[in-house]
Amino acid sequence: MLDEKIKSIHSEFKKEISGADNQKIIDEIRIKYLSRNGLVSVLFEELKSAPKEEKPLLGKRLNELRNSVTLMFEEAKEKVDASEKFSEHKIDLSLNGIARSIGSKHVLTQTLDEIKNIFKGMGFSVALGPELESDYYNFEALNFPHDHPARDMQDTYFINDNFLLRTHTTPVQVRIMEKQEPPVRAIMPGRVYRNEAVSARSYCMFHQVDGIYVDTNVNFAELKATLVSFAKQFYGSELKYRFRPSFFPFTEPSAEMDITCFLCHGSGCKICKGSGWLEILGCGMVDPNVFKSVNYDSEKYTGYAFGMGIERIGLLKYGIDDIRIYFENDLRFLKQF
Ligand code: DAH
Repeated sequence: MLDEKIKSIHSEFKKEISGADNQKIIDEIRIKYLSRNGLVSVLFEELKSAPKEEKPLLGKRLNELRNSVTLMFEEAKEKVDASEKFSEHKIDLSLNGIARSIGSKHVLTQTLDEIKNIFKGMGFSVALGPELESDYYNFEALNFPHDHPARDMQDTYFINDNFLLRTHTTPVQVRIMEKQEPPVRAIMPGRVYRNEAVSARSYCMFHQVDGIYVDTNVNFAELKATLVSFAKQFYGSELKYRFRPSFFPFTEPSAEMDITCFLCHGSGCKICKGSGWLEILGCGMVDPNVFKSVNYDSEKYTGYAFGMGIERIGLLKYGIDDIRIYFENDLRFLKQF
């Protein structure tokens, strides 16, 4: 008889606990089965009046019943507790997530990436140098002798007699050549500084990319071909260009490259000051005096070099008419790129 009851209570309990989905039902089940006067305890009372010889086995069954019921009860209670905690925090899984706004690359970084990719495609590597530079690398080794008027081409922030904020990325050419024998083929991007009055056209800090290629038999025709290929990839293959003679202390001969004005396409306007042309870079054949300062044999090696301003390129490519806007972090400007 008791044996029957054990079985039926067990299966009844199982049915009830499986449907227990809130604290109230859990409490009711606990009172019904596991309290002092609950169904399980009552069975233990009944055991006392069972026939003596059946007691050991029935006692064992009863203990098993109690253990099994207690275990199932604890598990169910834990589940209900956890789900009630969950709803207490009002987590609504059907709610849409909060979209995070993602930043974008600065237009200067994008421009630089594009320039790097074009030159990498032509076999150039990328080299970097320090922004705090010595007079030697910035001027002396680049064939700007002391007291030479060419130093006035670049208004310099001097730190002391020997150190300055580099006025161009050209000193990195010297640093690479010092470390490496030809062939050398690299571009050198970076920040440069000039002590100029801030205006729509000039800023105290801006970015440049220099390039150099030194090997046996490097000539001016290759320089032109490389720069024309760059300009066509960067500005579009329709572009017209010209090279004008110019002067830089570290190149001989020197030239500047112009492209047709993006705005008026050559007929003359405010941007190109009526000429129809816009200057995009300086270039030339590396001066033998520069080779001398890095101990390259100028009888054996020749090289070309070039340098361009990155802000200016954006100015020409996107028609940005004020250099200061690059550095103001105005999202209305930045989001356009
Ligand atoms: N460093 C020059 C400047 O800042 C630009 C330049 C011209 C770089 C000719 C070169 C070059 O490497 O060959 O105005």
